[in-house]
Amino acid sequence: KRVAILISGRGSNMMSLVAAADGAYEVALVASDKPDAAGLGWAKAQGLATWALSPKGIGKPAYEAALDAALRDAGVGTIALAGYMRLLSDDFVARWRGRILNIHPSLLPKYKGLDTHARAIEAGDSHGGCSVHVVTEELDGGAVLGQAEVAIEPGDTPETLAARVLVAEHRLYPRVLADFVAQTS
Ligand code: GRF
Repeated sequence: KRVAILISGRGSNMMSLVAAADGAYEVALVASDKPDAAGLGWAKAQGLATWALSPKGIGKPAYEAALDAALRDAGVGTIALAGYMRLLSDDFVARWRGRILNIHPSLLPKYKGLDTHARAIEAGDSHGGCSVHVVTEELDGGAVLGQAEVAIEPGDTPETLAARVLVAEHRLYPRVLADFVAQTS
């Protein structure tokens, strides 16, 4: 039931996960690779436990060892990536196998990686959307646990589509995380 949320930036998905936590899961830690991430200040103001460390200077193995220790100290069973913009190493993924989720702003398996909305518009797709998936060693490649579709409107830009998909992300992620935690713990 104890979940850590990993962020790198504004943290709007983290905020929606915190707001929706109603007993199905408990946010035990908000962690970031960016000590100045906007979302961290919000989490602290909510009285949540936070952790932040930049891998710059110390290197990825030392950073991930410290992150792993912080997660274990917090008694975390599930990790929810929410706008966490750093690739986790294969070692880290293996240590937390099947217990890391991510939200990705496309209808996977379409448009793994970056610039998802621009690519969906460019391709002439009728819909964009978002997916919550299990994190594996393959980028945006693990089992999809839930998706929400968002219609692409004439005149949509990557920014206007992203804004509507983000609203769908905020609804989808808490629901999928709650179901996942219920099934796995
Ligand atoms: C979201 O669109 C998420 O799908 C993507 O990065 C964005 C993060 O936004 N991985 P936020 O930090 O949750 O506001």
